[in-house]
Order: sequence, then structure tokens, then C-alpha cells
Amino acid sequence: MLSILNLDISNKILLIRSDLNVPLDIKGNITSDIRIRLSLPTIKYALEKKAKIIIASHLGRPTEGIYNPLFSLKKIAIYLEKILKHKVILKKKYLNGCNFEKNEIFLLENVRFNIGEKSNSKKLSKQYASLCDIFVMDAFATSHRMHSSTYGIINFAKQSCAGLLLINEIKNLNKFLKNPEKPIISIVGGSKISTKFNVLKKLSKLSHKVIVGGGIANTLLSLNNDIGHSLYEPNSILLAQEIIKKCKNIILPIDCIVSTSVTNNSLIKNKNVNNILKNEKILDIGYKTINIIKCELQKAKTILWNGPIGVFELKNFRKGTEIIIKAIIHSNAFSIVGGGDTLAAVELFNAFNQISYISTGGGAFLKYIEENKLPVISILENIS
Ligand code: 3PG
Repeated sequence: MLSILNLDISNKILLIRSDLNVPLDIKGNITSDIRIRLSLPTIKYALEKKAKIIIASHLGRPTEGIYNPLFSLKKIAIYLEKILKHKVILKKKYLNGCNFEKNEIFLLENVRFNIGEKSNSKKLSKQYASLCDIFVMDAFATSHRMHSSTYGIINFAKQSCAGLLLINEIKNLNKFLKNPEKPIISIVGGSKISTKFNVLKKLSKLSHKVIVGGGIANTLLSLNNDIGHSLYEPNSILLAQEIIKKCKNIILPIDCIVSTSVTNNSLIKNKNVNNILKNEKILDIGYKTINIIKCELQKAKTILWNGPIGVFELKNFRKGTEIIIKAIIHSNAFSIVGGGDTLAAVELFNAFNQISYISTGGGAFLKYIEENKLPVISILENIS
């Protein structure tokens, strides 16, 4: 991919597509700024080179054509201005052009308010392209979406290139996919079960061992055990059977922390997986499983992790996730971690700077691991 570093961007108008889709609490406060922070190098580089900067992003999944303040990028504009110490103006109407007055940065209002964004409308793609001299794609986390502001625009922009974050993501994911030091241990967990089966199959092929936790482990365990009221995916039983049959290097929990309620004060028990009662839920891995995982991670030279393996948000059920984080940061392995909930766990345990590579991608991260390509990356590779 052509990098922003290879172009003369001074005095040019850049449209940087970032992924500033950060989690917000019910009051609209940003609860994790990882995606914003990791988007800064490209923006700062453009500032340094005296380019004129327009930034575009989506936030959440609003209905196209309807302005909804809940999905406005206003709070992101305020945050960016503070963190960059540079004037950032939120631009609500921009499809007919942005007039720069001084050296302000324009942040375009949520691109998903525009009709045609998600259907990759040609008209909208052309309008985005006409805003800039150079389109800089830096939204790795949205590069699995063929939308107007991520994909369509590349067909019409005078010049397109990749931003620093996008290049770094691909470099690090390729290090895992193409040139990993062995042995490789992968960890797959989380509560979004159906999205993980394909990546689990792929990781089983690539890794020496795959540690499985969370809802996906419960679904696999449910084939041979009564898992009580635990989170699982009944519609994926056939897939689960196929995985158990084909993926012989999967490590499933042999014991777990169970409770009948999910609170910080819940009464908890450590039980073998074949001993769970109808009214109990699996909420974390148990002590015997923790020891097995620790041993495996000590041997690893490369570790990839997506999805917490217990309800880490509650202190009763976070031991498994905590042990994984500690094992990763104490190992000498190249570690790569991705996915929204996983990053929240990394932040909770203040381990952000001790992981070799933190990916901003959720769906994009999984899709790149699964298929080793993404639509936006392919089109960028072809035009360069
Ligand atoms: C993400 O959060 O994974 C990206 O920002 C993409 O968002 P989407 O799943 O709503 O397209």
C-alpha cells in the first residue's frame, strides 16, 4: 500500500478516514479513548507537514438520513481539540466543500448520517472525494466495510493512500499470519459467540494450541456437559460439533467459576465442568484451568488474544482474564491483542503499554485473521 509518508502532503487538503467509533457511557462520556489515541500519529504527521486536514469517522449505527445527537461526533471533536491542542471544528454540512480559514482541523459529522454511506453510493463517494486532494485511509477497524467513506471514495479520489495506523495494523497482523515465531498460542473468548467460529477454525490451523473461554467455550462444552444457565449459542451446535471433531489442539476449561447470579456479591463456587447444576452459570475459568493456561502461555513465542474468558467487568469473575493478561506481559512472546472487550480488559489491568501490539479492530481484526485480506486493503494495494 502507498503510505502517507511517500506523498508530498504539504498544503494539500487531506481527508483522513479514521475510526473514532469509541465506546460511550449513557451520559455520552468516552469510556475508552484507545481508538482516538492510536489515530493521532497520522493526524499529527499531517499537522507537522502543514497539510489542511479534514477528518471523517462514523460513530455507532445511526439511521441514515436522520440526525440523532446521540451519535454526534461533537464529544469527539472536543476531545480531539484537547488532546491535539489544536482548533477542531465539527462540520455538520460539508458535502459541498469545506472552506479553510486558518489552520483549523475539520471533523466531519458522523458519516453514517449520510444517505448512501453504508450502501457505498457512487454519488456520496464522489462527494467525499471532491472534498480533498488526497484521501488517507486510516480506519483499520472499518476496513472490512465497503462503505462510501472507506471504499467507494478510493475510486474517485485524485490520490489515495494508507495512514500510519492502517499500515502498522497490517504489518503486525502479517507478522502473526506470515512470519510468527513458534510455538504460537491463541486465545479466543468473549460473548459474541457466532462471530468467532470461523476465526477459531483458522486459528486452530495456525497455532500450536488454542485456549478457548467465554461463550464460545460454553457452546463447545454444552455438547458433552450440562452447562446450566450459562451463555451459549444453541444455533451453532453443528458448527461446535465440527470444531470439536476437526480442531484437536483446542484447550477447553476443565473447571470453572459458577454462580446463580451475576453480581460482585454473588456466592461463587469452583466446579468441574461436568458438575454444573441447572440453575448455575459459568462465569469464569476455574483454578485447574488457570494452571494449564499459565503453563501453555509460558512456552509461547507468539500469542494472539481476542475475547475475555470470563465476566471480567465484575471482580468475582475476572481471575481468568487477569491471569491471561499477566501471563502475556510476563512472557517474552510477541503478543497481539484485538477486540473491543479485550482492549477494555487490557485497560482495566493497566497493561496497554506491555502488549507488543494492540489492534484497534474488532470485526476487521477477526476478518483479517480469517481471510488474510480485507476489501479496503485490497483496493488500496491495487491502486498503488
Ligand atoms: C467497530 O467498532 O468494529 C468498527 O468501528 C466498525 O463498526 P461497525 O461494526 O458498526 O461497522
